[in-house]
Amino acid sequence: MNNSNHKARHRLNYTFSTGGKLAISGSIFLTTTFMCIIYFSTPYGASRNIISNFSSLPIQPDKIIVAEEEDDNKEPFRSLTDPMYTLGPKINDWDLNRANWLRLNPAFPNFFSSSKPRVLLVTGSSPTPCENPIGDYYQVKAIKNKIDYCRIHGIDIFYNTASFDAEMAGFWSKLPLLRTLLLSHPEVEFFWWMDSDAFFTDMAFEPPWDRYKPYNLVFHGWDELVYKEKNWIGLNTGSFFLRNCQWSLDLLDAWAPMGPSGPVREEAGKRLAGFLKGRPVFEADDQSALVYLLVTQHDTWSDKVYLENSYYLHGFWEILVDKYEEMVEKNHPGLGDDRWPLVTHFVGCKPCKTFSSYPIERCLKQMDRAFNFADNQVLHMYGFEYKSLNTSSLRRVREQPVGPADANNEVSRVLYPSPTNDN
Ligand SMILES: *[C@@H]1O[C@H](CO)[C@@H](O)[C@H](O)[C@H]1NC(C)=O
Ligand SMILES: *[C@@H]1O[C@H](CO)[C@@H](O)[C@H](O)[C@H]1NC(C)=O
Repeated sequence: MNNSNHKARHRLNYTFSTGGKLAISGSIFLTTTFMCIIYFSTPYGASRNIISNFSSLPIQPDKIIVAEEEDDNKEPFRSLTDPMYTLGPKINDWDLNRANWLRLNPAFPNFFSSSKPRVLLVTGSSPTPCENPIGDYYQVKAIKNKIDYCRIHGIDIFYNTASFDAEMAGFWSKLPLLRTLLLSHPEVEFFWWMDSDAFFTDMAFEPPWDRYKPYNLVFHGWDELVYKEKNWIGLNTGSFFLRNCQWSLDLLDAWAPMGPSGPVREEAGKRLAGFLKGRPVFEADDQSALVYLLVTQHDTWSDKVYLENSYYLHGFWEILVDKYEEMVEKNHPGLGDDRWPLVTHFVGCKPCKTFSSYPIERCLKQMDRAFNFADNQVLHMYGFEYKSLNTSSLRRVREQPVGPADANNEVSRVLYPSPTNDN
């Protein structure tokens, strides 16, 4: 690789850290940040450049290094006259294949008990650093929060930072990712997609899996809003369950064609804006495309789609975050609904970007509060809590618990169900 090419691809810029937290939180965080950003991933097999000699890089405590990567491998956009996009070769016999695999691999059951499916939570963030450096810190908080929930509930987790399909960048990237995981993990019964900007806020609530036995796809939403109103926010694709089966592969195939970046996505966006209630004109997004599919092909899909609204599989942050203190006063974890929401989703907040539909200060403050609200439920097991939801400093609330029974709270009862606690 010649030197000018090298420079074009990986320029190092020095930027002053404006986020107070980055500067204050000291050397450990700085080192971690540093280690993350000196690894440049270059997709599609192009050569990689990894700086391995840390001591040769000038680090100054009040400065952080931002990597800029230029995509040197850009394919031209798919045009409207090109063949329709597909996620991959058509697969028709997945149910049979999967059933055979499960029969031959009894050590990897898809159900732990009749009402406890094996679930894989799938989430991720961009392969490149956040445009707004503080955003990476919120990604860490968001994944820490998901790891906690998953650990408590015996759910596996897959955090993706790779782009599996350049055409399906952005909100569409979950489709090729889910298809790949679905075919690679026959042992998983449900994939739980969750956006990186969604936080679990009820650490004790377990989704009512029995309710979904007849269904393959579960969103937070309302039948009336989707099927009657054709409202583009009648359901939310920020947190949903997808069953591992042939139906789901077919659904992904039908969902994908509006996804490719460029003129296809732009044109589809206009069609969606004309068809759906309340949708502004912008490029096609996966959520609108799904509502469109459910409305226009109602008979093909809707009987296997469940729109959940008895608890917050997705909860819009604006209506929840100011009530956390009141919830703590009046209620307890394990309810999942407006008394104690399972998920608080920061729709429209873009901590990683330099633009946001809401004031970024409010977004970040409320993300901290959601994180602390959730983390308190974990910390209570260990005898601690945050002094308030607005601060990261702790106080001890009990002597060191000795054994899980001593903790005796909602989360410890999920982690260590005793026969008397079990229904
Ligand atoms: C790393 O860089 C320092 C300073 O430039 C140099 O003295 C040292 O020899 C380098 N180490 C390796 C392993 O290249
Ligand atoms: C925490 O912040 C909220 C605003 O989000 C405010 O209403 C509340 O009074 C604050 N509480 C404390 C203890 O500072």
